[in-house]
Amino acid sequence: MTQAPAHIPVMLAEVLEALSPADGQTYIDGTFGAGGYTKAILDAANCKVIGIDRDETAIARAPDNARLTMVHGAFGDVEGHLKGLDIDGVDGFVLDLGVSSMQIDDGARGFSFNKNGPLDMRMDRSSGQSAYDLVNTWPEKELADIIWKYGEERHSRKIASAIIKARAEKPIETTLVLADIVAKALPKSFKKYALHPATRTFQALRIVVNGELDQLESALNASLNILKEGGRLVVVSFHSLEDSIVKAFLRDHGAVQGGSRYAPEVVTRPVLFTQPVKKSVAASDNESRLNPRARSAKLRWAVRTSERIAA
Ligand SMILES: C[S@@+](CC[C@H](N)C(=O)[O-])C[C@H]1O[C@@H](n2cnc3c(N)ncnc32)[C@H](O)[C@@H]1O
Repeated sequence: MTQAPAHIPVMLAEVLEALSPADGQTYIDGTFGAGGYTKAILDAANCKVIGIDRDETAIARAPDNARLTMVHGAFGDVEGHLKGLDIDGVDGFVLDLGVSSMQIDDGARGFSFNKNGPLDMRMDRSSGQSAYDLVNTWPEKELADIIWKYGEERHSRKIASAIIKARAEKPIETTLVLADIVAKALPKSFKKYALHPATRTFQALRIVVNGELDQLESALNASLNILKEGGRLVVVSFHSLEDSIVKAFLRDHGAVQGGSRYAPEVVTRPVLFTQPVKKSVAASDNESRLNPRARSAKLRWAVRTSERIAA
């Protein structure tokens, strides 16, 4: 059997620069995946890493290393994971959102519209509802709404209606059957776009199945409590729904920008993060050429201040 190529870490140099690993410190890699970030952090300094992943196969692949502690679970529950390890605070928290190449490339996981497999899409196969459950049981309006909201798909109603018609005949069991239903529901003019017709629908289902945006919000809120003064929050996101959550969080908890010379904005809340680089950072042209996943990547990072949150 040929082995799927390992995941190539995205924006690794930029992530390391933002995280700035130092001896004696502790970092959380909330999206361990193939361990690319973790390995680089452990190589960069004599530090410790807590690697989190909700996919058991990622945990099973982790190397033995006395400075690495692995946790099977969701990064949205990071505070609970740290309590379980008796750790009060950390010096950095990095997230590389979404799915890994291993997950996409394994048809049996059901993430890919190009590879046949069961409609699963759960990163953690030990719990929760699968894409099969959504596609075969949700009402038409709810399906249309999520495809619109999380897929940003303007043909969401046509797609939901086609799903309902198809499943009235027999359950929609596999990725390729669903991809075909979606493709046929779209207007012919869609064919001229580079994107596979099912891209947005699959993205929407994956986000809902894994509660991805809620996970991100929980993790960001947790970062306020778990990062020590000077601790770094580093997030690599891959679509605008994710990036806008990170951007709004850093705006709401960062130094106030805006207002004007005549009407300066008054700061009435504590500044919990500073952002040395205010804008998002993109992958270099060279990396984007070599790794298509990097093309949509946006990195934002911030440094926790000494302000504590009122109890
Ligand atoms: C893009 S890959 C990370 C790749 C990693 N940075 C590397 O260099 O190999 C994302 C990984 O995060 C995991 N993941 C995504 N959302 C998660 C969540 N809410 N909690 C825990 N793990 C999550 C996925 O299972 C996947 O293994």
